[in-house]
Amino acid sequence: MFWYFVAQSTGILLYYSSDMDYTIDDVIKAREALLSEKSSKEVKELLRSPQFGALFALLKTAPAEQKSQLGKEVNALRAEVESWAEAEAEEAVEPIDVTAPWAPNTPTEKRPRLLDSSLGSQHVLTRELEKISEIFQRMGFAIEESRQIDDDYHMFESLNFPEGHPARDDWDTFMTDDGLIAPAHTSTMQNRMLKKYRANLETNEPIAVVVPGRTFRNEDLDARHEHTFHQVEGVYVGEHIEVGHLVGTMKTFLGDYFGKEVDVKITPFYFPFTEPSFEFSLTCPFCEPEQSDCAVCSGEHWIELMGMGMIHPNVLREGGINPEIHTGFAWGFGVERLVMMKNNIEDIRHFNSGKLEFLRQFGGTR
Ligand code: DAH
Repeated sequence: MFWYFVAQSTGILLYYSSDMDYTIDDVIKAREALLSEKSSKEVKELLRSPQFGALFALLKTAPAEQKSQLGKEVNALRAEVESWAEAEAEEAVEPIDVTAPWAPNTPTEKRPRLLDSSLGSQHVLTRELEKISEIFQRMGFAIEESRQIDDDYHMFESLNFPEGHPARDDWDTFMTDDGLIAPAHTSTMQNRMLKKYRANLETNEPIAVVVPGRTFRNEDLDARHEHTFHQVEGVYVGEHIEVGHLVGTMKTFLGDYFGKEVDVKITPFYFPFTEPSFEFSLTCPFCEPEQSDCAVCSGEHWIELMGMGMIHPNVLREGGINPEIHTGFAWGFGVERLVMMKNNIEDIRHFNSGKLEFLRQFGGTR
């Protein structure tokens, strides 16, 4: 009996003896067929393929003395096919989702360096502006944001301050060379609000809008004056609207904001965009009338809070509204002043100072 070693490319040695009934070709051909199907079939399928079936059939019928040799070869082929599965598994790279956030249990040192969100908190002005807007929203007002850059028309002309009007000086602010203006009050939004909501009047709905916004003035800075501050503008237009509605609206708002009823008084004043115009004061919510050492009102017991009035007919007309049919009121108050009062803050400059000792008093854990 002559034995030959046939070296396979895989390194598996197949034995061949010249007097066997099967030929080495049967195994080699089966192997080649399996190799060609390798890419399209799973290893499990290859192991159940007709090629293996034929080899097993051959094994059954092979003469006894050849069985063990043929068995070895078939087993070697099976082992090889099985090894393809391992190789495939090794080759397959675990997919990574690069957009997945870190798992909750990732230790801090494996995360990017970030501040703990509990260290930060809302700025007191933002918090209060949200409260103020929320109260007005409950009272049925729409909320619109003012803009931080505007033009002469919205700042003055649409508000009944024609060119050269002396009252323009009272709203001294910053202006670019090409005439854009950092708005000195949120009244810049009045004309836009009248135009945007005037269709309400056709269906007997009022115009009721509150406009919080950032405002700017060319000021000498001190404990009560800042160049950048916030105002909340209010506009209400309907039929048969009078000063009493204005006072009632503000009293309702302030009662909710301070959590207690406040007494208010109005004193005649002048604004080009309202007629009549008033200054609005409230009783100090923090002291009793006879208490003379109150830090908030210095014992005066009245605190002047805002300007307001009945919207001037020229302003209504400029917004496309007929003042013979519809009347309305408007107001504008400084948010800082209200927040200072509520929280007993003595200097308006604290708000923009970025001082942590100040900010931490109003939220956050540190
Ligand atoms: N814009 C005024 C100011 O900044 C405040 C004001 C007064 C607003 C009367 C109004 C108003 O809407 O009707 O001083």
